Amino acid sequence: MKVLGIDIGGTGIKGAPVDLSSGAILAEPLHLPTPQPATVGAVLKTIQKVIRHFQFSGPVGVGFPGVIHDGVVGTAANLSPGWIGKNAEKLFKHATRLPFRVINDADAAGLAEMRFGAGKKEKGTVILITLGTGIGSAVFIQGRLMPNTELGHLPLHGRDAEKTASAKAREKHDWGWKKWSRRVGEYLQLVEKLISPDLIIVGGGVSRRAEKWLPRASRGIRAKVVPAKLYNEAGIVGAAMATRPCPL
Ligand code: BGC
Repeated sequence: MKVLGIDIGGTGIKGAPVDLSSGAILAEPLHLPTPQPATVGAVLKTIQKVIRHFQFSGPVGVGFPGVIHDGVVGTAANLSPGWIGKNAEKLFKHATRLPFRVINDADAAGLAEMRFGAGKKEKGTVILITLGTGIGSAVFIQGRLMPNTELGHLPLHGRDAEKTASAKAREKHDWGWKKWSRRVGEYLQLVEKLISPDLIIVGGGVSRRAEKWLPRASRGIRAKVVPAKLYNEAGIVGAAMATRPCPL
């Protein structure tokens, strides 16, 4: 079955049609910049562009960078605050006349990694951490998702962890891999102290260059730490999977 998956990030919005049975991306993903400011109207227009680009008609799954309850936005740290309290699912549906399902972006990436990537067949407690504009988290306990965990906002050095350990923080402060990987290591240790996972999967664009920083960042961590297998495309695949009643 073919479903359009769209991953909304603080910096970019990307989408592609996905084959749900194999998790394969069926066409070159479209990458568009997230409008700044990322108001409701501006992001809606970008979503319409993605649908037009693929001339898509059918179910659409969206990963959204904030807490989502039944399609309603609870937080939007890296988009315009005007999103908070809005029913994103209904807004997208009205704007496009297509059926939509919206879930948290990291939860979406986690679904894809658990089904097709680094978490395949993993039991026990698995945490996916995405390092991008913000830090996202998805927690799975014996293959079941505990949604909206928001571990990127844990305090680290007195600040939101995502302000000091995200990929954006590295770029903003112009840190080398060595310095940043120490920060990520401190963050992973904090997560481990709280949740004691068996496996930590690290995703986001930086997972493609994991050899540069992951060995140092995972020093001293008891859990197995691995890079995401679907890299940054997990968000698209998982968003598409979320349209199914039982995605895993
Ligand atoms: C948001 C999360 C999101 C993460 C990655 C954070 O700022 O609060 O919901 O998963 O960024 O986009």
